[in-house]
Amino acid sequence: MAMFLIVGGAGYIGSHMVKHLASHGHDVVVLDDLSSGHRKSVVAGKFIQGDLGDQDLIEEIFSTSKIDCVMHFAAFSLVGESVELPLNYYHNNTAKTTSLLMAMARHGVDKFILSSTAAVYGEPENLPILETEPTEPTNPYGRSKIFIEEILEDCDTAHGLKHISLRYFNAAGASKEGEIGEDHSPETHLIPLVLQVALGQREYIEIYGTDWDTPDGTCIRDYIHVMDLAEAHILAAQRLMEGGESGVYNLGCQSGYSVREIISIVREITGKPIPAVESDRRPGDPARLVASSEKIKSELGWNPRYDDPERIIATAWRWHSANPRGYSDV
Ligand code: UFG
Repeated sequence: MAMFLIVGGAGYIGSHMVKHLASHGHDVVVLDDLSSGHRKSVVAGKFIQGDLGDQDLIEEIFSTSKIDCVMHFAAFSLVGESVELPLNYYHNNTAKTTSLLMAMARHGVDKFILSSTAAVYGEPENLPILETEPTEPTNPYGRSKIFIEEILEDCDTAHGLKHISLRYFNAAGASKEGEIGEDHSPETHLIPLVLQVALGQREYIEIYGTDWDTPDGTCIRDYIHVMDLAEAHILAAQRLMEGGESGVYNLGCQSGYSVREIISIVREITGKPIPAVESDRRPGDPARLVASSEKIKSELGWNPRYDDPERIIATAWRWHSANPRGYSDV
């Protein structure tokens, strides 16, 4: 059993990670400033409210807890906002991470798992996307993450920081027990927005562009269940603890679904009509993002349990229908 520091552990993916680690018997310390996370979503571990950039606090955490591995989920992650406010992204996502890494180096903590993103690939030439595809992010969010990936490599060279960067495609769904789920404010992601239409909280879902170069003209994404993401982090951490090398892995289900397909799956699952309105493209959206996850399957033995969007969306619907106002209902 090991002791993990989960930075951003009150966020959507971080909170599922905390639950998954605890269910495997690990000890968890959660650091989150609650700027977008929810205290109620942290179902295990020791919770500390604070900012990743607070060096005294970080110092205290590493001095008082014998952390074996850090998992870092705390980041701003909206592509459009990153174009408007790039310095916020470089400060929060990149600069603050370097102070975390400095504290780790001071305390001899040498294992780190980074939440990275498909946004590092920009507009990929080849599908499914392999980890060897050039990283050419088209927005500051993607650049803020690729910078950290590169910094991690330098830290490995300089002082042996072993790290795994997990490049997520589209995280979705909720824990199967239904006690935690996705609650962003404002919500920008497709699946929770379509579910809000099903709940009668929105009149319609907007489809951002119907003239993309895809079979039905809408963007294609690769949706992955949040607990499958969490499982990949455990496998990555185990690999590092066994003395494994640093690496980069994509995390997706290797199949793409269009915006229209997702809407029609939600109609089937919820039995609601879900009106849709066609609107302009959203700036910064790539047409298609579909992962190859062969590398993590073959090297770490990862095998997603929820490998189709019906099953993923069913878990999300269960949580949203039980908690229509998100964590305000919990
Ligand atoms: N979409 C709509 N209508 C909506 C919301 C979304 O049509 O109301 C479309 C988007 O244009 C996109 C697809 O649904 O084509 C999925 O959009 P999301 O906002 O759910 O997710 P993204 O693919 O934009 O974002 C994900 C991650 C980001 C990451 C990005 C990489 O959440 O962190 O992929 O492009 F940066």
